[in-house]
Amino acid sequence: MTSILFSSKNIGTLELPNRLVRSATAERMADPQGRPLPPLERLYEKLVQGGVGLIITGHMYIHPSGKAHPEMTGVYSDDLIPNLARLADVVHKYGGKVVAQINHGGMQCSQSSVAETIAPSDVNEAFLSRPARAMTDDEIPQIIQAYGDAALRVKQAGYDGVQVHAAHGYLVNQFLSPLVNQRDDRWGGDIKKRMQFLREIIRSVRKAVGPSFPMLIKLGMKDGVEGGLLPQESVHVVASLAEMGFDALEISGGIGGKTVINSKKGIRKESEEAYFLPFAKVARPVTQLPIMLVGGLRSKKVMERVLSEGHADFISLCRPLITEPDLPNLMKTGRKDKSRCLSANNCWRTTDGEGIACKCPHERVQIQR
Ligand SMILES: Cc1cc2nc3c(=O)[nH]c(=O)nc-3n(C[C@H](O)[C@H](O)[C@H](O)COP(=O)(O)O)c2cc1C
Ligand code: SF4
Repeated sequence: MTSILFSSKNIGTLELPNRLVRSATAERMADPQGRPLPPLERLYEKLVQGGVGLIITGHMYIHPSGKAHPEMTGVYSDDLIPNLARLADVVHKYGGKVVAQINHGGMQCSQSSVAETIAPSDVNEAFLSRPARAMTDDEIPQIIQAYGDAALRVKQAGYDGVQVHAAHGYLVNQFLSPLVNQRDDRWGGDIKKRMQFLREIIRSVRKAVGPSFPMLIKLGMKDGVEGGLLPQESVHVVASLAEMGFDALEISGGIGGKTVINSKKGIRKESEEAYFLPFAKVARPVTQLPIMLVGGLRSKKVMERVLSEGHADFISLCRPLITEPDLPNLMKTGRKDKSRCLSANNCWRTTDGEGIACKCPHERVQIQR
């Protein structure tokens, strides 16, 4: 019998051949202007040939003030469209599908990327490397417009959809978080008001790309710090996503900085896998949207169980596809039933120009530069 993992399913108008998704992974393979470099094309070639049903790109910055780190891919200018199009073309050449993740880093942008960081309110939290300044009334609509402009570039570059990053402590997550968003104007207050920034972004994106272009969201349902966003509140965001115009929800968590819970370390046993499953169980009853679950999924058995029990419709993988870009095909043909990822997080790059690579102690996997 064919595994549920390899059955097809749609996300809006986007037809996907299987349930395995490459979750957004910042590849750090762009030049200083944010133009993707050839190693990124080769990485996507490997991923699509490895059988994954959908590739979500690493986060791309929508505005120069939102560049989270060096070597990040950019989508903030029309000049970038030809380079972005080459990436999409590589995926399509092999029959794959690719969605671009768009983002503004807000308070989490590194010193080497932006001179000062912005956030909904003044923030000076220990988990951040430096304080951030509250956005002015004029800046907020400019950034909302920048999301729409970026989404249009994604469409013009030939991508199959766009994903708004609303997790991991980046700007949209910051607006949703009661810890970081202390505004008392129309952008702050209860969860309904903290959601307003996301709503306006979606309005801007939909206006730019039209009603049928697939629009996804990666939502952090719990910040994981005292005073932060909790599932009791984020469930209201989930319940509003379909009406806002989204086509799918990817569930994650963690407010980033030094508090990383989104890429949890040390997953060894099946019981430690799917660590955001409790959030999917909160989300499922309040939305009809396809749910993608990310976070520690490693074995075929657990993936199949999550899908067949109906908690999610897609399985998103980040680190497993860094170390084995062909894991989907290996699983499909029965050559593997588990990722070899050690979840020790040695994949983050350490030297400029290195890009992501698997550096845990098994055969080193690196893209030929
Ligand atoms: C090297 C690296 C880069 C990442 N970059 C992104 C990113 O650009 N956007 C995003 O939403 N999540 C990013 N993440 C988080 C992953 O997409 C994923 O949510 C997390 O690692 C948990 O999934 P996993 O256990 O399959 O790795 C990154 C994680 C790693 C390890
Ligand atoms: S470096 Fe470690 S955590 Fe990262 S992909 Fe390789 S095995 Fe997984």
